[in-house]
Amino acid sequence: MRILFAASEAYPLVKTGGLADVAAALPVALNDIGIETRLLLPAYPDAMDSARDVARAAELGSLLGGHGATLFSARMPDTGLPLLLLDCPPLFARRGNPYTETGGSDWPDNHLRFAALSLAAARIASGTSGLDWRADVLHANDWQTGLAPAYLRMSGAPNTRSVFTIHNMRYQGLFEAGVLAELELPRHAFGMEGLEFHGHVSMLKAGLAFCDHITTVSPTYAEEIRTPEFGYGMEGLLAARGHDLSGVLNGIDERAWNPATDPHIPASFNGDDLSGKAACKTALQRELGLDEDSGAPLISMVTRLTAQKGVDLVIAILGALAERGIQVAILGAGDPGFEHHLRTLPVPPGRIATRLGYDETLAHRLIAGADMFLMPSRFEPCGLTQMYAMRYGTLAIARRTGGLADTIRDIATSDPTSGTGFLFDASTPDSLLDAVLRAVRLRADGTAWRLAQRRAMQQDFSWTKAAEAYLRIYSRLAPTAASNVRAATIEQPGTGRAGESS
Ligand code: ADP
Ligand code: GLC
Repeated sequence: MRILFAASEAYPLVKTGGLADVAAALPVALNDIGIETRLLLPAYPDAMDSARDVARAAELGSLLGGHGATLFSARMPDTGLPLLLLDCPPLFARRGNPYTETGGSDWPDNHLRFAALSLAAARIASGTSGLDWRADVLHANDWQTGLAPAYLRMSGAPNTRSVFTIHNMRYQGLFEAGVLAELELPRHAFGMEGLEFHGHVSMLKAGLAFCDHITTVSPTYAEEIRTPEFGYGMEGLLAARGHDLSGVLNGIDERAWNPATDPHIPASFNGDDLSGKAACKTALQRELGLDEDSGAPLISMVTRLTAQKGVDLVIAILGALAERGIQVAILGAGDPGFEHHLRTLPVPPGRIATRLGYDETLAHRLIAGADMFLMPSRFEPCGLTQMYAMRYGTLAIARRTGGLADTIRDIATSDPTSGTGFLFDASTPDSLLDAVLRAVRLRADGTAWRLAQRRAMQQDFSWTKAAEAYLRIYSRLAPTAASNVRAATIEQPGTGRAGESS
């Protein structure tokens, strides 16, 4: 079984959020269970610089708009995962954030850039790219590769099926209808049953409409997106395709996020010996200019600054937390309005620290050194950071939505002997504050807290479960190809459809 996994970012080559972590780790987990998986990315200069064993592999000829394109084969620097890099300098020779210019606005030719990526994905997967390789399943991710299932369907390739994974319904890849002519798709693709959405082209909808199977990144989000609150107008289509829609919970990359081996934190620790965690906390307080007080609860947050993440709720309670001697450390980048707000907070010295920007290693130190981690998201397709935090014994305080509801079990005040974090329901500052204060109260009981930390650290968030759930999906689409994957992997007695909901 051969899978082409197509994405617009992957860690450590280029990353803006969780998709990069997934694109780096899931294909490795698929290879580990015997599925030959290659990852297709644009050959951004940052990706070409970091990838290893880069070699010219095929001339794709002209893609959309007559741009000449070349495929390079390469490997991920850390895991050795086989890569295909789509080189088309007029579209991808740009450094930094892959979607936006330095000022933060989207590149004006994003429709062409990601249509070209999608078209290349369809050609590679269907075996018409000039490479001596084709895929049984093309696995596309988010709007940037949403057109790939459309190009594949239009090409009539009989032996390649497609899976489209929604990492976030909020980003729909919407463009003026006028761009259609540049996308080289037949006119009939632009219909209510196709990629038309309120008179615009939606690349997300293209993926949903033309793929053979839709997945999203948690079972709860798979239910939520069938409702108007979370479906952003596509809930009807998603409900209609309900039989082809499953939720597969993401995993975490335990090589990159493991407190026992993490090179980015000042002291290592594990569930049996948390003394290193105390050292991480002191070092973090010192680094951020917080009062060096081991008794003060320290809560961290590492996030894109968007309305999705409930940043406004956090800002609303910062004063109340500081008054109670609770420390908060926030690392974030994104919405200029939130950045301005955080930059100009009237913060009491020693209690609140904010760092604006994207800083991978500081993220590790914040997650390792804090007692608790904030994730009051309005919606959260899966969320990886709460799982990283749990792995580091940092208990999450989160809204009960999407993947947060699927990965965290609430520690009830009436029974602190079970549960792995603190969940709340209403998107209000008061509900968030209540949950924080519940966490602070439990922390005052050192023994109960340590037991809760251990429970959180012991959760199994490995990618293997997810890889096996995807294998079951791929096998239903391409049963013949599945026959050459280790039979034991497919038919583990008793595993049923664990990890997958549909
Ligand atoms: P999302 O993809 O919605 O942003 P996830 O929780 O799935 O949310 O993944 C976010 C990823 O991006 C995590 O690896 C997190 O550590 C990282 N991240 C987010 N913001 C920052 C930041 N400002 N600096 C460093 N890493 C960040
Ligand atoms: C998106 C979602 C996040 C998810 C990530 C990886 O960015 O916002 O919840 O964890 O994709 O699937």
